[in-house]
Order: sequence, then structure tokens, then C-alpha cells
Amino acid sequence: MDAAKVGLLGLGTVGGGTAAVLLRNADEIQRRLGRSIEITHAAGLGIANQSILDASKVKLTEDAFEVVNDPDVEIVVELIGGYTLAKDLVMKAIENGKHVVTANKALIATHGPEIMQAAMARGVNVAYEAAVAGGIPIIKAVREGLAANRIKWIAGIINGTGNFILTEMRDKGRNFDDVLKEAQALGYAEADPTFDVEGIDAAHKLTILASLAYGIELQFDKCYTEGISKITTEDVNYAGELGYRIKHLGITRKTGHGIELRVHPTLIPEKRLIANVDGVMNAVLVQGDAVGPTLYYGAGAGAEPTASAVVADIIDTVRTIDIDASHKVPLLGFKADDMSDIAIMPIEDVETACYLRMTALDKPGVLAEVSEVFALHNISLEAVLQKEPAEGVAKVHLVLLTQKVIERNINAAIAEVESFSDIEGSVARIRLEHLG
Ligand code: HSE
Repeated sequence: MDAAKVGLLGLGTVGGGTAAVLLRNADEIQRRLGRSIEITHAAGLGIANQSILDASKVKLTEDAFEVVNDPDVEIVVELIGGYTLAKDLVMKAIENGKHVVTANKALIATHGPEIMQAAMARGVNVAYEAAVAGGIPIIKAVREGLAANRIKWIAGIINGTGNFILTEMRDKGRNFDDVLKEAQALGYAEADPTFDVEGIDAAHKLTILASLAYGIELQFDKCYTEGISKITTEDVNYAGELGYRIKHLGITRKTGHGIELRVHPTLIPEKRLIANVDGVMNAVLVQGDAVGPTLYYGAGAGAEPTASAVVADIIDTVRTIDIDASHKVPLLGFKADDMSDIAIMPIEDVETACYLRMTALDKPGVLAEVSEVFALHNISLEAVLQKEPAEGVAKVHLVLLTQKVIERNINAAIAEVESFSDIEGSVARIRLEHLG
């Protein structure tokens, strides 16, 4: 059988990794697939990685539209990233009847509905395993491996850069900017690293996971997103003293009031396996009603881990190329005409426990004053920690852990506490999940 012909868009970190894996593991892939896979046309600005492509077999161009318009190309692999050009290329590829493999979470989370509709109408596949948690096959696990389950919730460390930063801050006391620079140099961070540290990248990935878990439309605009740039080493240390680690989690949960969809720094008990996922590694914890908790761990970024998912998608696509669309796994795991319209909950309605840190004047009665506010708002406190003031300083840090409370209630209590003259500045709040 002829080789399956692939057009590669983007020759950066992941494009280079994809070409390298296809070449190095060609024999093994042929044994699995009964067919070889060849990159026949590739596009990249500056063509930085062209030395890894066999120039005698691959047409190289700087115009990506040449690739999507090449009649010989069967599968277009989009590794350019971003929304605009990538979307135009993917839509053109689909219009031309080509299957698409992409690692572009921003594209799927924001333009997924339009892209998938076009792909279904044209009878082509859109595969996006590499878009979530890099090399971890979490799309396949949730969409196919756990298809028997009602998914209750998913909690994931799905941004390697953010996890790397929090880990280095905790273990080495390094500062935020310094670690971020290292993550950029190592090729983990997005082109715009605020996507990593402000949780936008994780929100893209969580949006995709929630769709697969609950059969709902992709709704990135409804995802609550809070970054890690305000986390201090004091918070990391106080959390540790209380038996918790701070992780930047993406959480989606089905409740009687709707679907929670939120990315924010989160305290989790240090004894949980996921609390011990460090450095650039990702992990996704999925709670199904039949299987219970399952945990998926691996590299969430980097050239070859991401290429592992890209190449698996190419293999899957080649395998099902001749199969009628009605017999294929639906692109979001549920039949397109049977999606649920259950609403995404506003963050004010979500219920979580909280870690609160405030700076108080070191004088009698302040703790009682603060505690009374929480009592009046019917918020139970789980733990209270008062740090001794440094020599000659008349202020202390008060750290409180609350039991579960609806966000709008804790907001009201925090606003009241912040209005006290004995409390300096704002109260730091980090949500807390037991993930039990
Ligand atoms: N910037 C992303 C991360 C890359 O750090 O996880 C993988 O999506």
C-alpha cells in the first residue's frame, strides 16, 4: 500500500519533534498500521528545522497554503499555533477534503464548533490529542476509554510552565520571573507566556476536556480563569505548614446546578498523588461513576512528548480513512445531534473551601473581630494560623482555612474584613479542594 501523505504546517519545536519521531520509528509505525507515513510537503517560516526532513522526498515552502492546496496531501498537520492563520489553513484544508491533525488547543477551544461542523459536513477527521496535556493520551482516555462512565469531575495540572514555576518557587525559593525565563528557554511556554501564567492555556485545555466529559459544546468564553502571578512564597510556605500544596488546577465538575469550569491556583492535600506532580509534568485526575478515580501522568509539553500525541493522531486518522463517518468516534465523543445544553455555572455560584491570608495589626481582639464576620456569614473555619510578627513589626499574618462556602458568600465576608481598619490591604484568597 502507498504511504499515507502528510502535509506539515510548522517546523518549530513540535513540528521538528513530529518529523523526528516519524522518521525514527518508521518501522514500528509501519508494523502497527500496515502502511507507512510520509511527510511529503512542509511549510515553516524560515524553515528552521528543514535539516530533519528528507529534502529528496519533502517539498519545502514558506507558504502554508501551498501545503493545504496540494492535491497529494491526505492529512494536514497544523502545528503553527494561534487563532487566525491556523484557522484559515485548517478551514481550507477541510474544504479541500483533507483530514486535520492539530496540537492547537486555542484553535479547538475557541473555533472548535465551526471547524468540527465543517469537518463533519465534508466527512473528514479533526484529531487534537496533542492539544491537551501534550503526550498524555487524555483525549482518548476520556472520550473512548471512559465511555461507559458518567464523569463526575476532572481536575488537572494541564500547564507545564505554571507547574514548573510553582515547583521551583516551593523547592528552591526562586522568584517567579526567573523561573518563567527558564521555562521559555526550554520551549515549554506559549509564544505569549501570559497564556501560561494567567491560566488561559489551561482554560483552553479544560474547555476541551469538559466537552468530552459531559457532551457539551466547547465554551471557552465561560471558563473562569485566574492566574498564578499573585501567589507568594509565603502562601506556598503557609500552605505547606497546613499540609497542602498549591497547584494551578483546571477543574470541571457536574453539579445539580450546572457545570463548573474553572482554572485557578488551588490548595490540595499534599498526600494526594496529584499534589506530587512536579516540574513541567502534567497530570489529570478523572472521577467516573463506574471506574472511580483514575490518574493520568506525563509530559505536557516539549518536542517529542507532544509529537507522540500528534503521530498517534496521524496513525488513528490513517486507520479510519476509509470508514464511514457514522461509524467513527464522534469528534467530541458524543453524537453531534445529542449534545447537552446544561449551563456552565458562574464562579459566584461555585462552592469551594478557601485559604485566606491577611495582614492584621498585632493587637488584642483582631482575630475575634475577623472570626465574627465569618460566623455572621455562616462560614465555618477549619483552621486558623497566626504567624508571630518579626522583631519590631506590629503586624501579623493571619491565615484561615474555611469549610466549603459559596463564592458569593465568601466574597461578601472578604469585603467586610477588608473594610476593617485593623486589616491592612486586601485579603489573599486561594480556593481549596480535597479531591477525595
Ligand atoms: N505552554 C504549554 C505548557 C505547552 O506549558 O503546558 C503545552 O501545551
